[in-house]
Parts: sequence; C-alpha cells; structure tokens
Amino acid sequence: MHILVIGGAGYIGSHVVKELLQQGVRVSVFDNMSTGQTDNLFPEADFIQGDILDVPALEKAIQGIDGVVHLAAKKAVGESMENPEKYAVNNITGTLNILNAMAKYGVKNFVFSSSAAVYGMPDYVPVDENHPTNPINFYGFTKLEIERFLPWYGQLKGINWIALRYFNAVGYDADGAVKGLEKNPQNLLPIVMETAVGIRSGMKIFGNDYDTTDGTCVRDYIHVSDLASAHWLALKYLAEGGHSQSLNLGTGKGISVLQMVQMAEKVIGHSINYEFTNRRAGDPGLLIASSETANVVLGWTPVHSDLENMIRTTWAMYQK
Ligand code: UFG
Repeated sequence: MHILVIGGAGYIGSHVVKELLQQGVRVSVFDNMSTGQTDNLFPEADFIQGDILDVPALEKAIQGIDGVVHLAAKKAVGESMENPEKYAVNNITGTLNILNAMAKYGVKNFVFSSSAAVYGMPDYVPVDENHPTNPINFYGFTKLEIERFLPWYGQLKGINWIALRYFNAVGYDADGAVKGLEKNPQNLLPIVMETAVGIRSGMKIFGNDYDTTDGTCVRDYIHVSDLASAHWLALKYLAEGGHSQSLNLGTGKGISVLQMVQMAEKVIGHSINYEFTNRRAGDPGLLIASSETANVVLGWTPVHSDLENMIRTTWAMYQK
C-alpha cells in the first residue's frame, strides 16, 4: 500500500506517518511546510514540498497512490473567525483540489481529518455521530462542509472515505521519534508547558463557574498516537471494502482544565502560575465523545490516553 499523507510534517501528521511506516506502509509526505517541520520528516518516507492550492503539483503527487490521508488544514479557531477567507481557501478549496485530483487519477481511498468542532455546542454528552452538526466557528464550518462533499464524491466518483472527528489532541510519541515541537501552540496543554518552562510568565484558566465538578471546562483529551493508529485502521478498513462514514475519536472520559493543570504540576514537580479569568467565548462547559462506533467499525481502542501519560510525553518534549 502506498499512501500520500498530506500535511505529514505537522503535529498529528507526523505521528500518522510514524504509525503507517511501522505498519509497513509505503509513505509519501506532501506538505507546504507552513506549519510542518523538517524535524518531523522520517527518512523512510518520501517528501514532496508542495501546496494543496498548487493543482499541478498535487496531481503529480497523487498519481499512482493507493490512498490519501489529508491533514493539511488551518486549525486555529479564533483566527478562523478573524480571517475566514484564509480558512475557506485552504480548508475548502484545498481539499476540493485533493478530491478532484483523486477523481481524475482514480485514487479511491480517502481519510480526512475532521473535528469535534463540527458539532458546535453539545445538546447531550457523550456526543455520538448522530448528534446534530451545528458549528459555532468558521473552522468547524470548513470541516463540516468537506464532510458534506464527501458522500457526493463517493456516489459520483467512487471515492471511499472516512472522516475522523478528533476531540482534543494532546501528547507526543512516547519513543521520541517525532522531534518537532508544535510552533505557536494555541491549546491548553502546550500553554501549561510553556508556563512551566518559563516561555510564559503565567496562564489563564477561562472560567471556574461552569456546571462541572470543579467549575472549569471539561474536555475529552486523546493522545496523538491513538489518533494516529485510527488512521491506519481507517485505511485498512477502506482497503478491505469498508463503508464510508464519519467517526468520533475520543476516550469518552472528561478531564477538567484544573485537573489537567494539577496533574501537570505533579508530573513536572513544581507549581504552575495560573489565574482564573472570565469564560472564553464559544466554550462549551462539557464536551465528551462517544467513540463506540470507531471501536465497533475499526476495532479502535485508545491505549496511550491516560492523563498522566499524555502529560508525561508532552513534558518530555518540552524538557528537550
Ligand atoms: N483553556 C484555558 N486556558 C488556556 C487555553 C485553554 O483555560 O490558556 C481551556 C479552554 O477554555 C477549554 C480547554 O482549556 O476549556 C481546552 O481548550 P483548547 O483551546 O485546548 O481546546 P478546545 O476544546 O477549545 O478546542 C480544541 C481544538 C479545536 C477543536 C476542538 C474540538 O483546538 O481545533 O478542540 O473539541 F475543534
């Protein structure tokens, strides 16, 4: 099997490449290196520097491939509300370029990086795949739009697809095989780490008056290596004739912001300077996944996602 991993030099993409190489898959990485890092490239995988907006380059890379994993997207929720044009072009036009190139060259299997952001504010938890999709930010809208195209490309162009709806991705490869630390991180755990190592003098916890056990927001954190294994299982499932569908990837366990910070203090061995501030706009108090379907369909079970391990593997990177 020869797979093109688009966005394979990024944070999640590099973990996917590692997993596929371990499974004996031949991998080519296609990445424009806007947020991807040279440190994340594996010598065993071919590397093509290219952009999904450059159709000739994309078509050249896609010819003769057995399947595509697509993780090349803009993903900062706040930025997507300020600069929707950038998100429309990269996340929608760019992905349509990929699907069109696949259709043109008869590449049939597609694994797409989607997000829990397609759901918006949850009506109930755990959120399963039948939960209504109603994104409240433009980033989530771009992911959902692509999910709406996929059944049409399935029906009209014979493309088989799995959309993986990631919940909160955290952690790093336990073997240290992924070397690049995510640049300019926007998410909770890297912010905790940057505070711990002194890159930031302090951090804020957005709200302690939610209807949760300790008043801070609860999320479903999933180790990036567990996300990576789901991509391999999805490719295998499609190669064996599996049905196209969207699947949640989370653990089903909720962790609060305060629990995350306190466990980080324990792992790191010193206190982290934080203060409680107002709620952040658009934050649901509680967001937890049901990943029952991924378990049944793909046989996927997270094995790296206990809280301490997620923090330890991240801390190991920050200590370097
Ligand atoms: N938080 C803080 N302080 C910070 C940063 C975050 O208290 O400095 C809190 C947030 O309020 C939230 C939790 O930590 O309650 C997690 O926040 P993140 O920004 O790390 O993650 P989100 O849950 O907001 O969003 C993430 C991804 C999105 C994805 C979404 C789907 O960033 O891309 O999960 O659940 F769409």
